[in-house]
Amino acid sequence: MTDPRELLARYLEQRWALGETSYTFSSEGEAVELMASPNTQAPAQQPGPVRADGAEQWRKGAPDIPGPGIDIPVPSTDLFVGDPLADKDLDQLGELIRACDQCALCGERTNAVPGEGPAHADLMVVGEGPGAKEDQQGRPFVGRAGELLNDILAAIDCPRPTVFIANVVKCRPPGNRNPEGEEIAACLPYLYRQIAVIQPKVILAMGTVAAQALLEVRGPLSSMRNKVHRFRGIPLVVTYHPAALLRNPNWKKPTWDDVRIARRLLAGER
Ligand code: URA
Repeated sequence: MTDPRELLARYLEQRWALGETSYTFSSEGEAVELMASPNTQAPAQQPGPVRADGAEQWRKGAPDIPGPGIDIPVPSTDLFVGDPLADKDLDQLGELIRACDQCALCGERTNAVPGEGPAHADLMVVGEGPGAKEDQQGRPFVGRAGELLNDILAAIDCPRPTVFIANVVKCRPPGNRNPEGEEIAACLPYLYRQIAVIQPKVILAMGTVAAQALLEVRGPLSSMRNKVHRFRGIPLVVTYHPAALLRNPNWKKPTWDDVRIARRLLAGER
């Protein structure tokens, strides 16, 4: 049997791989629970890149087993009350975002990345923020993480052109660091308005930043995934960020479980 301390160390390595440099346990019980958790998996010894060459490749090793029960917490409060962007459509939001100077990130950007996709997409993906390629092109998820995202979407029969893809922050944090609280707070109204316009049937929040920005909760991603939350009544599923999957292929299987929940919701199942 694996030493519980080793399990805990692996878990903290996973957090680190997700970009977190500190982690506070909410209780002693949480640490004990984590040490006993079968979901705490070691990162591969030499993870290497995941090849993103098609949905089938991505799904390999991820058997189509029945999903878990779905827990639907109480809907969040009305975040749109008093929204100053309330009359803006997606094109107008794009213009405002490209001209935005509400936080320091505007000084660093080549291009802002408002997001892209059909105005009434059934599925909306929310990532963290643009990387170098996205900053160059002004489009979301066009780098290696984007290739993997395309495969994930294809695997649940939602090809990328049918999905609206956005980020929590619309300008690249320098050096791909995590966006800071003030940057997120300055940018969130754009995302909220995008969601209000698009009214997706399902939101897929990829990574801790997206999950925490939309759910206003704090906690490890492992405690937020594998269930259905609600954002203003819209079902929201949390899963790992594609960039994290590139670093740690062990998370492909739980990600597959999560996106299958999204697929079931899109199909009208609960
Ligand atoms: N990572 C993100 O979170 N968003 C992008 O657009 C690209 C990489």
